[in-house]
Amino acid sequence: MGADVIDMRALAAQSGLFSFDPGFMSTASCESKITFLDGAAGVLLHRGYPIDQLAERGDYLEVCYLLLHGELPTAEEKADFDYRVTHHTMVHEQMARFFQGFRRDAHPMSIMVASIGALSAFYHDSTDITDPMQRMIASMRLIAKAPTLAAMAYKYSIGQPFVYPRNDLDYASNFLRMCFAVPAEEYRVNPVFARALDRIFILHADLAQVASTSTVRLAGSSGADPFACVAAGIASLWGPAHGGANEAVLKMLSEIGAPERIPHFIARAKDKGDPFRLMGFGHRIFKNYDPRAKIMQRTAHEVFDQLGVSDPLLDVAHELERVALSDDYFIKRRLFPNVDFYSGLILRAMGFPTAMFPALFAVARTVGWLAQWKEMIEDPNSRMGHPSQLYTGAGPRDYVPIEKR
Ligand code: ACO
Repeated sequence: MGADVIDMRALAAQSGLFSFDPGFMSTASCESKITFLDGAAGVLLHRGYPIDQLAERGDYLEVCYLLLHGELPTAEEKADFDYRVTHHTMVHEQMARFFQGFRRDAHPMSIMVASIGALSAFYHDSTDITDPMQRMIASMRLIAKAPTLAAMAYKYSIGQPFVYPRNDLDYASNFLRMCFAVPAEEYRVNPVFARALDRIFILHADLAQVASTSTVRLAGSSGADPFACVAAGIASLWGPAHGGANEAVLKMLSEIGAPERIPHFIARAKDKGDPFRLMGFGHRIFKNYDPRAKIMQRTAHEVFDQLGVSDPLLDVAHELERVALSDDYFIKRRLFPNVDFYSGLILRAMGFPTAMFPALFAVARTVGWLAQWKEMIEDPNSRMGHPSQLYTGAGPRDYVPIEKR
């Protein structure tokens, strides 16, 4: 090794245990009691409860309570939690003026990052993270206001006036109304859409230490306030590899266009010289059927069958799933439809534009980020995050004045 290279491995060996683990695939960054994942068996549990039972029998705010408190609420606790979240849904009127600074065509996620982060300027009490009561109030404020801000971002993008939240509606119905009601026209929330959206929120509530959640924990490990931490989570979620996958699925289904064109795209997905992949297939953790994907498929049927809505892309999706699941390439690599495969179709049927998909994901995941943030603050073993690195840059060298370079 030349003198101009620093031997990081030797330095690391001198300082004790050192592991090089890109993407932290083998290194646990924390202990957690919130979400259990067994990707090989296709199991996802929140606080021990299987995701399919929660999605079929619970509602989103019940799951929020479970994630935050560790136990399912009693009827009284549930009513109190619902009441408190519902009564935090309004945002300060000054926030409406904050929106005017954005271009009309701003992506809803850029508005979400900014407006959620801006909440810390309104709730100074909630930024005292040493007080457990303030941690809980901040959590309820965020869970309550995230859908209001997401709906405002949507309304702003289409040039319609904001619709204020209504306390007599459940979480999903309120959100649908804030997005789709227009002044001077009666708006009735479709109960099938409301149930489907509530389920989508449940299915996206938490997934252990994925990129956005690790981001929230890392940001929060320095003592940053919860609004800023959740804004950091939204920024991470915005990436196409994380929160943008269902949008990519719809794009792909539209490109395929008709069931008879599927073999051509299957062949492309198998061709190693072609960068094309079947969007909505495969998962970093789930090497068996993602249990959330099955519920999503059933929900898609409910929405499309019960309402008599038809979408040619649904036929393409069904046929693509059938063909891929009987193809050796996909079987051998354990590539199953993931949670994003059907969610975009459902959201499209409800009337959401694709740019809103990641914003809806952010609304749903807010509780997961908060539960993990709270767990980290309350863990006596947690430390400020400071991942190690394997330095591979230049060795020591002298500064050269600009005229001599
Ligand atoms: N289509 C075709 N081939 C695929 C696909 C796919 N969707 N996914 C994986 N493969 C192949 C790879 O080419 C590789 O083949 P090889 O062994 O012959 O080289 C093998 O399967 C393993 O692939 P990896 O990329 O190593 O698997 P990894 O677990 O790292 O990737 C990922 C998971 C990124 C999700 C991948 O399956 C993918 O790109 N899927 C499509 C995008 C998508 O749907 N993303 C959403 C994920 S869900 C979520 O984030 C909420």
